[in-house]
Amino acid sequence: MTDERLVVIGTGIRLVGQLTVESTAWIKCADRIFHIADDPLIVAVLSSINPSAELSTLTHLYGENKPRAETYEAMVQTIMESVRKPGLTVCTFYGHPGVMAYPGHESIRRSRLEGFKAMMLPAVSAEDCLFADLGLDHAMTGYQTYEATDFLWNDRRLDSSSHLVLWQIGAVGDLTFHEGEYNLAALPLLVEKLLRWYPPSHEVIVYEAAVMIDCEAHIRKVPLNELRADVVSARSTLSVPPAAAVKVDHSMYERYKVLSHGR
Ligand SMILES: C[S@@+](CC[C@H](N)C(=O)[O-])C[C@H]1O[C@@H](n2cnc3c(N)ncnc32)[C@H](O)[C@@H]1O
Repeated sequence: MTDERLVVIGTGIRLVGQLTVESTAWIKCADRIFHIADDPLIVAVLSSINPSAELSTLTHLYGENKPRAETYEAMVQTIMESVRKPGLTVCTFYGHPGVMAYPGHESIRRSRLEGFKAMMLPAVSAEDCLFADLGLDHAMTGYQTYEATDFLWNDRRLDSSSHLVLWQIGAVGDLTFHEGEYNLAALPLLVEKLLRWYPPSHEVIVYEAAVMIDCEAHIRKVPLNELRADVVSARSTLSVPPAAAVKVDHSMYERYKVLSHGR
């Protein structure tokens, strides 16, 4: 047993195979482990790494039609009750625990405010899988990314010469939780907004990383104006390739040439 401490880790997108050595080492030392896994395989992996830890789920805090923000606050409170007890609390989320995931960040913030040690470890997110499966490299295209509802409801601007990734398109506009599919009434609005920067025929990719090892990712290419609810799931991430060539910033380039000449 260690001092009261919180370690927030991610199990990666695959059910097995993407847990880092560092995260595994913390799981081994944990007194209490929280998870939001809805698959028994991940629970079995956690308990095989540390059979003596108290293993608890946070998934019961979700409720049909319940605002996700309420669930996240309940998760943070549950985690904090554990952090205040002696020993090490390890909290596991799927993917990267800090990517599009509020409870881990907030639990760390509150733990530190109360004087406890707390840290987050990096992990494999859906975006990391997307880079690998779609062969993307920011160095070539540049990269922008938004949460889909944030992009829709706020005055976000795009540069259509760089690659765009939108998260949570399968829940766009719906801030509540659903066991199955989400209310996608806002999806046509999202398409309408994207049409400000991209032509209707621009090919976009609805991407779902494989959660089982040695399985193929679901990569569905559709013209932007045909992006509809029937091709999107709660797991989908939207990848939008550049639609325009990048423009050179001539004034900066010329100034750089003058400066580098003088060296
Ligand atoms: C609440 S966020 C969690 C992200 C997660 N923390 C991560 O690191 O990838 C849920 C969103 O992640 C993306 N996502 C989750 N699983 C995915 C998968 N298997 N393939 C592609 N995107 C996925 C989708 O955009 C989904 O709406």
